Amino acid sequence: MTGTAAPKRLYIKTYGCQMNVYDSERMADVLRPLGYAMSDQPEGADLVVLNTCHIREKAAEKVYSEIGRLRVMREEKQAAGLGTSTIVVAGCVAQAEGEQIMARAPAVDLVVGPQAYHQLPELIARASRAKGERLAADFAPEDKFDALPSDRAVTGPTAFLTVQEGCDKFCTFCVVPYTRGAEWSRPVASVLAEARALAEKGVREVTLLGQNVNAYNGLDESGAPSSLAALARALAKIEGLDRIRYTTSHPNDFSDDLIAAHGELEELMPYLHLPVQSGSDKILRAMNRKHSAQKYIDLIGRIREARPDIAISGDFIVGFPGETEKDFEDTLNLVRQIGHASAFSFKYSRRPGTPASAMPGQVAPEVADERLQRLNALLEAQRQDFCASLVGRTLPVLFEKRGRHAGQAIGRSPYLQGVHVEAAEQLIGRIVPVRIEAAGPNSLSGALPQQEMAQATA
Ligand code: SAH
Ligand code: SF4
Ligand code: F3S
Repeated sequence: MTGTAAPKRLYIKTYGCQMNVYDSERMADVLRPLGYAMSDQPEGADLVVLNTCHIREKAAEKVYSEIGRLRVMREEKQAAGLGTSTIVVAGCVAQAEGEQIMARAPAVDLVVGPQAYHQLPELIARASRAKGERLAADFAPEDKFDALPSDRAVTGPTAFLTVQEGCDKFCTFCVVPYTRGAEWSRPVASVLAEARALAEKGVREVTLLGQNVNAYNGLDESGAPSSLAALARALAKIEGLDRIRYTTSHPNDFSDDLIAAHGELEELMPYLHLPVQSGSDKILRAMNRKHSAQKYIDLIGRIREARPDIAISGDFIVGFPGETEKDFEDTLNLVRQIGHASAFSFKYSRRPGTPASAMPGQVAPEVADERLQRLNALLEAQRQDFCASLVGRTLPVLFEKRGRHAGQAIGRSPYLQGVHVEAAEQLIGRIVPVRIEAAGPNSLSGALPQQEMAQATA
């Protein structure tokens, strides 16, 4: 053994939502002082973390096949005399099925839930002595945020920032209230401090995250609860922070003040992910969403009055128990009325322990498949129409990274589409007007106004 500390390699694989992406970045922050440097592949890593998602059956099952692959990789590493590796399962599957993971996958050294990963350094040390450490099931996000290092590694001009965790809504299909616990909001000062530190490192855009982010009610300096709108107004004042986004919202927590903020704050991007799940009142009731389809449509109308160019995104579930063809058509009709810039649609997945899993009228998979295809076709046509409608317009683009061609840069429109621009590499980290020239299947392409002028005079 030599005394020099070679960097240990850490590989983190992230499944699920943006909350997990944020948590993975923070796990890397927690482990960096221990000498762990990020690796982009599991081969040869000393520590592998699977940050898992429990939302649908497929997501949860993927974890077990991944553990199997990691076990083989570790055996090969050991056989080659290259030492061993520690396998950690984190995230929502860890929270929901910690005991089962340990029983079903003995290769796992440590299971850690989403509110306990700030303790990773001690846990890893313990797990290397006694296998089978498990720490989950304590929902205390305040401890976590207090313990996380204030210094974050920043990789580009955009960053996620978790401001709220957990959910009290108990939609009958959803595991999140069980995996992430009750709603809890970070204090305003803690959010602002993290945002300021990010802005100082060149971050121009933050996406505020929460399972129910518009239920945000973190305490301000005077000890009074602050709304998401008030938080956005405070963030907008931070020098250098020019774009604010937030996700995911619930229709029932959408206050008039937040609508007003969309009309008033230039920094608040005109893009809103506001899931409705279904267009049928019968299904919405069975889902415990506590609002009607019309209430959602009216809400979008009011938001559009405040911010006419806002682009709407959403989530949909098809094949919820009891969904008839008529109910599904109500969903298609709602989609037609709203007009989506983007959306995610899912086939209902029966999750153990949720009320919907025991409901009568479970929909046959082939019926759900067929509905999913029809819904996707409609949503995709709407997305493409929206992209095509931007051609010829000039939009501010935040350049994030290099593209595939030399000199090319890729940025984001206010509506979250990727925008490719040639000869723009020097603009990475800046927000620049771009004239949109074409809409491809997955992104837009455009030119800088100066380039257009140069072409015109050439
Ligand atoms: N808090 C957010 C979303 C959380 S989960 C909200 O309330 O909208 C992200 C999406 O996964 C949900 O909006 C829903 O569309 C989908 N989803 C959740 N549980 C599901 C299940 N059991 N089957 C299929 N899709 C599900
Ligand atoms: Fe799940 Fe509903 Fe909570 Fe969203 S609001 S996380 S869908 S229970
Ligand atoms: Fe999945 Fe957990 Fe997010 S279940 S969707 S990773 S909150």
